[in-house]
Order: sequence, then structure tokens, then C-alpha cells
Amino acid sequence: MQIRTLFHTDIESISLLHKQIFDSSYFSVHFNINMLKKYFESLLSANKHCYVVAEDKKILGYVIGGYQTQKAVDNFMKRNIWYIFSCMLINPKFILSAIVKIFRRIITNKQQSKAKLRLFLIGVDQDEDRKGIGSILLNKFEEELLNDGIHTYGLYVRFNNSHAMKFYEKKGFQQEFVRNDLICYIKSI
Ligand SMILES: CC(C)(COP(=O)(O)OP(=O)(O)OC[C@H]1O[C@@H](n2cnc3c(N)ncnc32)[C@H](O)[C@@H]1OP(=O)(O)O)[C@@H](O)C(=O)NCCC(=O)NCCS
Repeated sequence: MQIRTLFHTDIESISLLHKQIFDSSYFSVHFNINMLKKYFESLLSANKHCYVVAEDKKILGYVIGGYQTQKAVDNFMKRNIWYIFSCMLINPKFILSAIVKIFRRIITNKQQSKAKLRLFLIGVDQDEDRKGIGSILLNKFEEELLNDGIHTYGLYVRFNNSHAMKFYEKKGFQQEFVRNDLICYIKSI
């Protein structure tokens, strides 16, 4: 098993794995593979801390983080607005959640995390669950942050994702605040 940087040549495998790992409540899972590849291209181009665990040529897990995760998503959305719109029409529940998000942004003061760098996405092949791959990814992520002199980072997790919450809490994250259906975690390393 090898832990290494996520390369552009891994994006197709990551896209297929992403669809396997995340369920249909995640909007990105509804993108076709070409669009999902563009989504990951955008994240990877703007964010330095992206790693995979691979065995032979098979990718078993990935982590994506950096300072520009939200900006990368926003840019992707802007560039592909018509596709996003058509995807929402096919899956109308996301129209409602987008409207709710916009209203919440307008009427509430958006609480900001103290951490500037964000772990945006971590996922492990479900056949390899609980074998330590998530921990390997997180250790590598933190090792590289420390190499860059970064001592704090954060992430958001949905409050109904109890498995991920247990994982993060086991790994020493502290809850910073709750915003709508998201919990913001922070960790000092
Ligand atoms: C969360 C996730 C990355 C964990 O990866 P993993 O390889 O299973 O994690 P590890 O094997 O390194 O687990 C380390 C510890 O975290 C905790 N943990 C991990 N998965 C857990 C689960 N499903 N339930 C309870 N605790 C869990 C355990 O304490 C575990 O240690 P133990 O097995 O010795 O008890 C993986 O389950 C995943 O990809 N989930 C789906 C995607 C997701 O929700 N990502 C997070 C949101 S971006």
C-alpha cells in the first residue's frame, strides 16, 4: 500500500470512487463522470494538499484539502452553471436546499472558522472500511501541513454523518460551532 500525492491522472479513478463512496444526498454524486472529473480538476488545481492511498494501481482512498476549496467549488459552479441547473431540475430536492442556503446566507451572520485551511473531502473505498486507510490519509495530510508550517486546520461534516464524526473525534478534532446541518471541526497539530 502506498500513500502519495493525488495526480491529475488519478482524477478518473477518484471520480468513480467518489460515486461509490458517497450517497445520493450529495449533489456531486449526480454529476456525470465527465463533469465530476472537471469538479475534481478544479479542486486539485487550486489546492495543494491532495493525497491518495493506492494498492498497485487501484486507489483505495483520497483526501483533498487546501486554502481554496470553496473558491474552487464556486468557480466550478460558475463555469458550469447550465449543467448545474439541469442537474438540479432532474433532482429537484437540491433546488430547495440551494434556495434555503441562499436565504440563510442573507439573514444570518456566517460564522467563520478560526482555521484558514480546510480538509474538504476524505473518502475510503467502502470495501476497505475500518482498515486504517482513513488514518493513513489523515496522517499524511497533517505531516505535509506541518512541513509547510501549518498547525491548525478545519473541516465541515454533516451532523447526520455519525461515522465520519466518530472518525474525526477519534482523531482529535474538536467541535468549533454548528451551522445549520453542518458541524465545524477544528484541530491543532
Ligand atoms: C470516515 C472514513 C474516511 C473513515 O475511514 P476508515 O479507513 O474507515 O478509518 P480508519 O479505519 O482509519 O478508522 C480510524 C478510527 O475512526 C473511527 N471510525 C472510523 N469509521 C468508523 C465508523 N464507521 N463507525 C465508528 N467509528 C469509526 C474508529 O474509532 C476507528 O478506529 P478503530 O477501527 O480502531 O475503532 C470512511 O468511513 C469514509 O470514507 N466514509 C464515507 C465518506 C465520508 O463520510 N467522508 C467524510 C465526510 S467528507
